[in-house]
Amino acid sequence: MKSVKVLTKKSFEFEDQDFKRGEPKSMIPSTEESAKTFMEIITLVEKLSEDSDLDDQGLLRLLDYLDDGQNATAVRAHLTELAHQRRMAVYGNRVFLRGLIEISNYCKRNCVYCGIRAGNPNADRYRLRTDQVLESCRTGYDLGYRTFVLQGGEDPTHTDVFLTSLVRQIRDAFPECAITLSLGERSRESYQALYDAGADRYLLRHESAEEHFYQRFHPGMRLEDRKKCLEDLKDIGYQVGAGFMVGLPGQDNTVLVEDLRYLKTLDPHMIGIGPFIPHHETPLAEQASGSVDKTVDLLAILRLMIPKVLLPATTALGSLHATGRELGIRAGANVVMPNLSPLEVREKYDLYDGKICTGDEAAECRQCIQKRIENTGFAVDMARGDHPDWRN
Ligand code: 5AD
Ligand code: FES
Repeated sequence: MKSVKVLTKKSFEFEDQDFKRGEPKSMIPSTEESAKTFMEIITLVEKLSEDSDLDDQGLLRLLDYLDDGQNATAVRAHLTELAHQRRMAVYGNRVFLRGLIEISNYCKRNCVYCGIRAGNPNADRYRLRTDQVLESCRTGYDLGYRTFVLQGGEDPTHTDVFLTSLVRQIRDAFPECAITLSLGERSRESYQALYDAGADRYLLRHESAEEHFYQRFHPGMRLEDRKKCLEDLKDIGYQVGAGFMVGLPGQDNTVLVEDLRYLKTLDPHMIGIGPFIPHHETPLAEQASGSVDKTVDLLAILRLMIPKVLLPATTALGSLHATGRELGIRAGANVVMPNLSPLEVREKYDLYDGKICTGDEAAECRQCIQKRIENTGFAVDMARGDHPDWRN
């Protein structure tokens, strides 16, 4: 067995140039006024850690300070350290791997930010056949994966008959593996049928918990439907994932506080958050990407708010920064989802520009991510990695 580099305080203190995030220059702010503010914010971070919550006003104050407070860097370092400690207490230094299979980029929806939106006539559409999905699972299984995540747009040909048959075949072929679906909004009956066929988990980011903000980016969709889906999924017995993007145009901290509050109340098993990255064929083509630091701050805040949550360091974070996923892992993230899709469709599942891993074989991604995780002082865990409270 490969020996695991133990994460010491020293290794956590950013030896590598790439990890220059949140390094405390000096904990002593320059003026008396800023010293007072600084101490107030540090107290908020401590309270967040102790209570696993802060009131909305406190969350807003913290987010505002992290944006442009005089000593945001020192606060960030403390927040990251507390989130890291919490993750070590709950999960230790292990990072779960999930194999992601992108089964279709047909989508009937028109999410304004998304490269595979129905309104993009230049998307090169594909959908995998059942045998192709099974082959990807086989490749993944041989590489050690014990969770398969089937993700796709809302493809109208993905009927319950097709999908339940697919899930059943995966369940039969890989009885000890977890099957995660990420296929958008469906009826409760459909979620139930897929669960009965053998699916264990479902990812459906809520995208935004602020009504107006949600509507701006999701024409023809309703936040209440989204929330209903998440409640149905939970009720049926799935391990459920929600989440949102960081840095969509116009997303101020009050909007983010609504997201944090919604997540705290929903208490999902998994939370996917990543930076918004523009796609050249969408109405947001000219907009700026979300901030890497802010995404990582929010990962740390969520680790403290919902300590047992399974929290991926997302591909979008890795696409925006050379070591973005490592930064996420250092701030409390404990899941990575390397790509298992057949090489010929990788580039077509094109949600945003500059997505990493589109040219790499599944085996290459597997090795690459293991090295990255170990170089960051953590260890890969290839078990199913269920939520500690699931079915307990
Ligand atoms: N940038 C970053 N993430 C995106 N997603 C969709 N489009 C983009 C984009 N342009 C995210 C959404 C979706 C998940 C599968 O990918 O949050 O839920
Ligand atoms: Fe389909 Fe966004 S347009 S997932």
